[in-house]
Amino acid sequence: MIYTLTLNPAVDRELTVPAVEYDAVLRATESRVDFGGKGFNVSRMLKSLGTPSTAVGFLGGRTGSMLQEGLKELGIGTDFVWVSGETRTNISIVTESHSHYIKVNEKGPLVEAAKQEELLAKIDAITKPGDWWVLAGSLPPGVSEDFYARAIRVLNGHQAKAVLDTTGESLRLGCAEQPFLVKPNVEEACALTGLSLDTPADIGNAAAKIREMGAKDVVISMGKHGALLQSEDGTWLVGTPSIQEKNPIGAGDSMVGGLVWALTEGFTLHDALGWGVAAGAATASQSGTEVGSRTLIESLREHVSFENLGVKS
Ligand SMILES: Nc1ncnc2c1ncn2[C@@H]1O[C@H](COP(=O)(O)OP(=O)(O)OP(=O)(O)O)[C@@H](O)[C@H]1O
Ligand SMILES: [Mg+2]
Repeated sequence: MIYTLTLNPAVDRELTVPAVEYDAVLRATESRVDFGGKGFNVSRMLKSLGTPSTAVGFLGGRTGSMLQEGLKELGIGTDFVWVSGETRTNISIVTESHSHYIKVNEKGPLVEAAKQEELLAKIDAITKPGDWWVLAGSLPPGVSEDFYARAIRVLNGHQAKAVLDTTGESLRLGCAEQPFLVKPNVEEACALTGLSLDTPADIGNAAAKIREMGAKDVVISMGKHGALLQSEDGTWLVGTPSIQEKNPIGAGDSMVGGLVWALTEGFTLHDALGWGVAAGAATASQSGTEVGSRTLIESLREHVSFENLGVKS
């Protein structure tokens, strides 16, 4: 089974207006609701590729119930720990021309220590050897920075594979528990290692440093410049297909989804990253929060290139 962990989910409500004005009643010409969360994005990509997954994390209140229902309607399994506050709603007001926006994000409910323990106990109870867990996104108020690290310790104890996609201290502590894979983007890798990342060689050095921190395999994503993979077998630069970019937000989550899907289909890490890169490119070519379709991913996969940098570490 593939599980995706989303600790700080949100209902994202986007209202489109002709123009943004203060001290006036604005009339929305369009509105849409999305279920926001890095782990959910990964689950949506897995669904697009035809593989089921279960979303796990914290939900609260009526907004949480709505989110759970919405995920079920998308065909994504759910297994949440319920907290006493209300899951957050994030509001975006965007102009029809997309020239201006206002975005207001709520902090999210405080997650008490007992609820964090309950979630770790749930992970311990449901994980079977060979399961895949994607741990993605930021932490809600109250959750300690070592939460992902503790979750990875539990997963490793069950011979499950942990894929970590987060930032900052939470990423650093997570690496020390030896997850199967971490996937920072260039900015996140730069912040984690303190190295400046201007050339592929720099990025290879950062990947080596992240492996020294404990992660077994590292993928550093570089947007339209593709990705770099470093494992015990070597280092590869992976070229992404050229697409017309519409919305790159969430491309990294799709990449993780495509990569994990391919690994569960039996591809090697190297080949699986080809699928991940194609999935990221497919989603970057879609507008809004759409994820790329399987047909598009299959056609983009043929245009992914690999360059062996030959660096072993
Ligand atoms: N404009 C683009 N053209 C082609 N491929 C792209 C483009 N943008 C993203 N990709 C693909 O998607 C992958 C992930 O993108 P990126 O590095 O932007 O992730 P990210 O910053 O983690 O994104 P997010 O956290 O918003 O999901 C890239 O490695 C690349 O393969
Ligand atoms: Mg990302």
